[in-house]
Amino acid sequence: MNEIVKNGINGPIMTSSGDKREHLYKILIIGELGTGKTSFIKRYVHKFFSQNYRATIGVDFALKVLHWDQNTIIRLQLWDIAGQERFGNMTRVYYKDAVGAFIVFDVTRSGTFECVSKWKEDLDSKVQLPDGSPIPCILLANKCDQEKQGLVTNPEKMDEYVKENGFAGWFETSAKENINIDEAARALVNKILLNDKLISAADLDADKIDLQGSSGYGGSGGKKRDCAC
Ligand code: GTP
Ligand code: MG
Repeated sequence: MNEIVKNGINGPIMTSSGDKREHLYKILIIGELGTGKTSFIKRYVHKFFSQNYRATIGVDFALKVLHWDQNTIIRLQLWDIAGQERFGNMTRVYYKDAVGAFIVFDVTRSGTFECVSKWKEDLDSKVQLPDGSPIPCILLANKCDQEKQGLVTNPEKMDEYVKENGFAGWFETSAKENINIDEAARALVNKILLNDKLISAADLDADKIDLQGSSGYGGSGGKKRDCAC
């Protein structure tokens, strides 16, 4: 389903070339140091895993191209944000224009789970969709090939946690064993596509109302545009 291209930084765009629609979506991967964010991306995009740990400095990028269906190409611009950024001043810059996110914790270190809510608060306070709603975010319980510790040992409690904290879902993942990597990404893209459709439909409706207003047929309701008249 996919072909890989490295890099490229841009805001979200949607173009239509011939019959094919192309979407570009910016996605963030955040969470504590050493939880496996870079490994998740390496597995997802480059299809390999390394046990060597080299902390990411600042931010790193990768681009994943999905041939989603016959008519749709999706480019995911993945922003791999260093755990050492820890909700600092730079995250506002990094989060700008993102339309989806993963928060990653390490199932073997419950301390990394305790910080999840801080990352989520940081995210929700610094980036929103154009309609003001929070961007969809999926929680990744990574390193599930190893022995788990804490709340993640109880899936029902995790379900509750995820609901209460406004996540779009959660997955146990292993970048090492390639468990649930594609599934988690697909779940996030589905949410993003849904939001994109809703937002485009809302824009279309607003345009219709404006058109009616400007041609004298109509409606007083609807979204007002910034214009001189
Ligand atoms: P920062 O860049 O410092 O924020 O860390 P990171 O979240 O990018 O972590 P990284 O992907 O570099 O992984 C940290 C360590 O965990 C590395 O030694 C990886 O090999 C290991 N690791 C990552 N994912 C898994 C996994 O699914 N299972 C196991 N067993 N080890 C993993
Ligand atoms: Mg990293």
